[in-house]
Amino acid sequence: MKILLLSTSGSLYSTKRLFNEASRRGHYVRIVDHTQCSVLLGQPQSKLFFGTEDITTFFDAAIPRIGASHTEHGIAIVNQFEKNGGYTIASSIGILRSRNKLLTMQHLVENNIPIPKTLYTQDDELLKEQLDLLDGEQYIIKFLEGTHGLGVMLAESKKSAISIIESMQSLRKPVLIQEFIKESNGEDIRAYVVGNKVVAAMKRSSNGQDFRSNVHRGGSTLKIDLTPQETQIAIKTAQCLGLDVAGIDMIRSSRGPLVIEANSTAGLEGIEGATKINIAGEIIKQIEIAGR
Ligand SMILES: Nc1ncnc2c1ncn2[C@@H]1O[C@H](COP(=O)(O)OP(=O)(O)OP(=O)(O)O)[C@@H](O)[C@H]1O
Ligand SMILES: [Mg+2]
Repeated sequence: MKILLLSTSGSLYSTKRLFNEASRRGHYVRIVDHTQCSVLLGQPQSKLFFGTEDITTFFDAAIPRIGASHTEHGIAIVNQFEKNGGYTIASSIGILRSRNKLLTMQHLVENNIPIPKTLYTQDDELLKEQLDLLDGEQYIIKFLEGTHGLGVMLAESKKSAISIIESMQSLRKPVLIQEFIKESNGEDIRAYVVGNKVVAAMKRSSNGQDFRSNVHRGGSTLKIDLTPQETQIAIKTAQCLGLDVAGIDMIRSSRGPLVIEANSTAGLEGIEGATKINIAGEIIKQIEIAGR
């Protein structure tokens, strides 16, 4: 198969792993920088270019590795690839939904997937009353876009929640407000979904000082086996968002697993290292099954 690996750099761990596994399994694979791709819309067929090269129908399948700083452009390129009949492990709508935590949460509850109780509001006056709609006295406040834990705050009281949210709103930084799942204990679970399976899972634990389990914040990782319920929720989350390959993050609460985010470009280094599973190989196998 001819595989289009959309990535800004061939030296990134995940890009390298995917390139090597695709080659090893006998495919033609090429790393193409999506920031240098363009689309030409028109009849009878719209075109996709890399620089001046017409790549409209050359590739059978795409692996989009679109970074957060190029979301809009990346989505346009992936969307055109899909419209021209190519298979992609992450649909453009799936990338869009998973990039914004509010869009993700709205889509998940609609599909009966459990999430922490979440409030989104812009009105400072109403906020004071609406905070009472969430359970508990502590609140999690998050920017809508992911930040490796840096945009996630814990407010220890209603008063501090209000001051944090008011500051964010004055900076025109929209946030979502969640019930604090205390019993998750600074731990979360990353399930790596490929097709209709969870191929690897790990637990991330904070360093003991923090409510956040992000590795970028000093957290550690451990290979784990998911419960059947966690497995089923992770697969359903990826599928309903429009992602055949995704990293699904959950926290364990007293009422069962709750999904907190989905990642369409989940990194391979941490989880392959923690689990010793060849996830890149599983992703290429998925393309062999589903590619055109
Ligand atoms: N509602 C919650 N209750 C308790 N802990 C939470 C809650 N939401 C998030 N956390 C903790 O904070 C960490 C960071 O939150 P989240 O994953 O939503 O944002 P992020 O890591 O900044 O986003 P991204 O992973 O996209 O960079 C989670 O891994 C989890 O440990
Ligand atoms: Mg996270």
